[in-house]
Amino acid sequence: MTGIQEFFWVAFPWLAIAAFVIGIIWRWRYDQMGWTTHSTQIYESKLLRLSSPLFHWGMMFVIIGHIMGLAFPKSWTRAVGINDHAYHLIATIPGTIAGIAVVLGLIGLLYRRVVNRSVFLSTATSDKIMYIFLTAAILSGFIATVSTQVFGGAEGYDYRETISPWIRQLLIFNAHPEWMVDVPWEFKVHVIAGFTLIAIWPFTRLVHAFSVPVGYSTRPYVVYRSRGRDVTGRRTEAQWEPIRSNTRQVKKEGIRR
Ligand code: HEM
Repeated sequence: MTGIQEFFWVAFPWLAIAAFVIGIIWRWRYDQMGWTTHSTQIYESKLLRLSSPLFHWGMMFVIIGHIMGLAFPKSWTRAVGINDHAYHLIATIPGTIAGIAVVLGLIGLLYRRVVNRSVFLSTATSDKIMYIFLTAAILSGFIATVSTQVFGGAEGYDYRETISPWIRQLLIFNAHPEWMVDVPWEFKVHVIAGFTLIAIWPFTRLVHAFSVPVGYSTRPYVVYRSRGRDVTGRRTEAQWEPIRSNTRQVKKEGIRR
């Protein structure tokens, strides 16, 4: 076991996780106002309408695939009646379709960012760095899946004997870097690219992944009203009036013009 292998399969993942956790706490405390998608929909919406759902829905399935493949040991899937061959087919066929959706979505997102001038001009340095590492993690994962699972013979490469137990044990402070030594290089590159993306995550717009706007479905309406015709710019009495926040009353009376 060389020092470099110990670095990549023990120290590096832990450094990345520490950067992620500390970075997320720091960003939340000091930059809540910057915690946003920095949406560019206002500049370009045609390509975004297609590529954004492709990318995000594809990613949902890819994340489910990572949880299924990395967190659940073989014995669990066997226990619920999924034999190893069936698991391989489930992981490879829908997995590859999800991978294609993510790659096509990513190409669309990158294309509009480069070709549309307004979108390009609104691209910060942190976005450029993020896209480089996001592309590296996604392409390396897709290449690893296609080369070892789709074109790698009937059973493909069984990462549930190496990468999966390695990551589970690493996370409970039981490092086994030797389990990663003989893993195909495509997966080694992917794991390093994945952890690099995790390390820079808090310092990029990817933080929006942790703010699902669930409150939108229950919050009170935002009521927009035009000013009354008799209201002029000059007001003699109080410069403010209380906003009617009782939504039930607003509904009953309707929006008055
Ligand atoms: C946040 C960073 C990551 C991203 C964006 C990412 C993305 C991807 C993508 C797009 C694929 C191809 C999936 C498909 O074709 O369906 C993939 C596959 C895979 N990734 Fe990741 N990944 C990340 C982190 C990791 C990490 C940290 C590990 C291991 C510890 C890992 C292990 C794997 C494995 C084992 C596969 C193959 C799945 C299969 O063939 O069934 N990934 N990843």
